[in-house]
Amino acid sequence: MRVPVVAANWKMNLGTGHEAVEFVRSIRRGLQAVEGVEIVLCPPYTALSAVAEVLGGSHIALGAQDMHWEEKGAHTGDISPAMLAGWCRHVIVGHSERRATRSEAESDVAINRKAKAALAHDLVPIVCVGENVEQNDAGQTETVVGGQVSAAFAGMDAAQVSRCVVAYEPIWAIGTGKAASPAEANRTINLAVRGPLAQAFDEPTAQRVRVLYGGSVNAANIGSFVEMPDIDGALVGGASLTPDFVKLVEAVAKARGK
Ligand code: PGA
Repeated sequence: MRVPVVAANWKMNLGTGHEAVEFVRSIRRGLQAVEGVEIVLCPPYTALSAVAEVLGGSHIALGAQDMHWEEKGAHTGDISPAMLAGWCRHVIVGHSERRATRSEAESDVAINRKAKAALAHDLVPIVCVGENVEQNDAGQTETVVGGQVSAAFAGMDAAQVSRCVVAYEPIWAIGTGKAASPAEANRTINLAVRGPLAQAFDEPTAQRVRVLYGGSVNAANIGSFVEMPDIDGALVGGASLTPDFVKLVEAVAKARGK
């Protein structure tokens, strides 16, 4: 049984003053009461240490939204895996908002390096993949997503891949209020995420990896996603910034019968 994961991607929000701490204090008790779901909060870097303090002693995990793959060096403005390792258990890599605007820094090769560097520092990489609207319209979803998956996990062994989380996020569904249909997302995950993993490694490895759906997930629609056989939770943007995030996590636990 794969334990479901809900990862909150705050993006560039709640990072000033006390807002992150106040928000986490307001949802912590509700989240703590939910069993059977791995919960990860990914605030901006500026709020990591404050949020770590509020979460201390709870089972809610802390994650970062990105990192460089190198341990240290002349990389102005970047954060290294070693800097995150003390606080975080997870790190998002290859989010489409970064892939789109920083094509060199967020190439498939860079994302593969980041995922490996995360594992080397005992961080769980949440590797994001997904097609844009043109690729979707042209029927290229499986090729694009399958290619991103193969590239992201190249050169790893089965034990390393099994520790990773994949987030399938169709770009046209992110922040648009237009989520993919659960059946369609499940089909893509089965064919273009687990398929290439089974090919590169083996079927049991492909079945062990937790795969999330992301893109306009909310408390009302999450249940229908996690009821799908290949979807193990969600990467949540907008809906992770309101108190309703607790309801969303509760809905995951309910759909999984916990
Ligand atoms: P959204 O963002 O839930 O606001 O669509 C998801 C994401 O970008 O991870």
